[in-house]
Amino acid sequence: MEHVTAPAWALLAYLVSGVLFILALRGLSSPETSRAGNRYGMAGMLIAVVTTLVMQQLAGIVEILIAIAIGGGIGLVTARRIAMTDMPQLVAAFHSLVGMAAVLVALAAWLNPGAFGIADAAGQIFAVSRVELALGAAIGAITFSGSVIAFAKLNGNMSGAPIILPARHVINFGILGGIVVLIALYVLSGAGGPGEGMLIPIIVALAFLIGFLLIIPIGGADMPVVVSMLNSYSGWAAAAMGFTLGNSAMIITGALVGSSGAILSYIMCRAMNRSFLSVIAGGFGADSSGGGNGEPREQRPYKQGSAADAAFMLEQAEKVIIIPGYGMAVAQAQHALREMADMLEEKGVEVKYAIHPVAGRMPGHMNVLLAEAQVPYENVFELEDINSEFAQADVAFIIGANDVVNPAAKTDKSSPIYGMPVFDVEKAKQVFFIKRSMGGVGYAGVDNDVFYMDQTMMLLSDAKKMVEEIVKALD
Ligand code: TAP
Repeated sequence: MEHVTAPAWALLAYLVSGVLFILALRGLSSPETSRAGNRYGMAGMLIAVVTTLVMQQLAGIVEILIAIAIGGGIGLVTARRIAMTDMPQLVAAFHSLVGMAAVLVALAAWLNPGAFGIADAAGQIFAVSRVELALGAAIGAITFSGSVIAFAKLNGNMSGAPIILPARHVINFGILGGIVVLIALYVLSGAGGPGEGMLIPIIVALAFLIGFLLIIPIGGADMPVVVSMLNSYSGWAAAAMGFTLGNSAMIITGALVGSSGAILSYIMCRAMNRSFLSVIAGGFGADSSGGGNGEPREQRPYKQGSAADAAFMLEQAEKVIIIPGYGMAVAQAQHALREMADMLEEKGVEVKYAIHPVAGRMPGHMNVLLAEAQVPYENVFELEDINSEFAQADVAFIIGANDVVNPAAKTDKSSPIYGMPVFDVEKAKQVFFIKRSMGGVGYAGVDNDVFYMDQTMMLLSDAKKMVEEIVKALD
């Protein structure tokens, strides 16, 4: 018996949903088209789900509908309640579910291969199906435990600091090597099902362990790359299970998620100046002590200003570059910020926004917020396009950003963010720095020399409140 092949109409429907998923990815690549992209994605998923149900003659439809209602209900409530700032951990949590789903499907196929059409008359699983099943189970398990750790770190249940085991590379490569050998043994052994060896459960257990070990050493500023990498893994796990189930929609979707996640990880690695290979090997950028703190921050002198001071100087400026960061998202200051920028532009000041690829807590975080406040796209610039302009700027206006303007990334080899490209704000004539207190640190937890520069004025307040006061003063 071969894989049960789907009827022609179902294959066509899956193809249509695959095309819709590609259109969805295309749409999501720009804020202007992202809504349409989301709609394509939803339509594609609806077609895929309905096709699968109808193809199986609606078998078990009641149980499936109950499961959809429960899962969908939880998803709906979570999505409505979740704060924008908690999005990264939500994404990590969802990846863990994809990983677990792949493991469960693999175990079900292993326990009852006949029902999946992947075994011969004697109950022996076909060799090619054994490859798919073992790979899907292993990648799924790595995705699950890795994502659980990523969730715990992002959600603050676990310290964000790297946990470094001695000889971790030896341990990791040993376990990974072990998994590869066991998968090879399983494929070659001709073992049919559970009665003929416990290789699959052992592979799954080792994969859970390695997912955990790969993510615990990753700390500080490197988490975003990990989340997008786990996203990619979850896609490959789904694609492998698509082969086991003989489901082309799953293969297409999994491959799209896998490759787009890999491309995003690569782009973020480049943005943060990390090597892609060391990310895959785990525990990159973690060999530093998380230090680079310099002198204790209370003892260094800094200048503090008020909204009125800031408004006065902003009015005199010819060119202002705004650098938003995570704190703008926390304070939801984007609308007030746009109002401030509009007023300055009316007074003839040139205003530009500078977006760092890892500003905030998720890819595109700042772009989403600025788009929500209807900031014109043509005023928003990426790091490499605007960094040379700070030398001509009168004011670098830092609102809730910290790590992405920290010069330690350029100068301090012991800093956990060393090597990440940052904005050259120190070249601007004046720097305004909005944050709530001198004690608060950025995501990487390090002090920032920009606070103490001669041309820096600290505006210590909640970002929204401060910008609203500046707007009032400009009025
Ligand atoms: P951070 O370095 O995290 O700094 C945030 C700043 O906002 C802090 O100075 C904080 O100081 C201030 N802040 C917080 N709440 C505020 C409020 N209500 N009003 C005013 N200020 C407030 O932000 P960033 O520069 O955007 O850097 C992003 C960091 O996160 C990078 O290290 C990046 O690697 C990491 N990360 C990024 C992502 C992605 S994909 N973007 C995902 C995970 C992690 P106070 O507490 O004193 O106010």
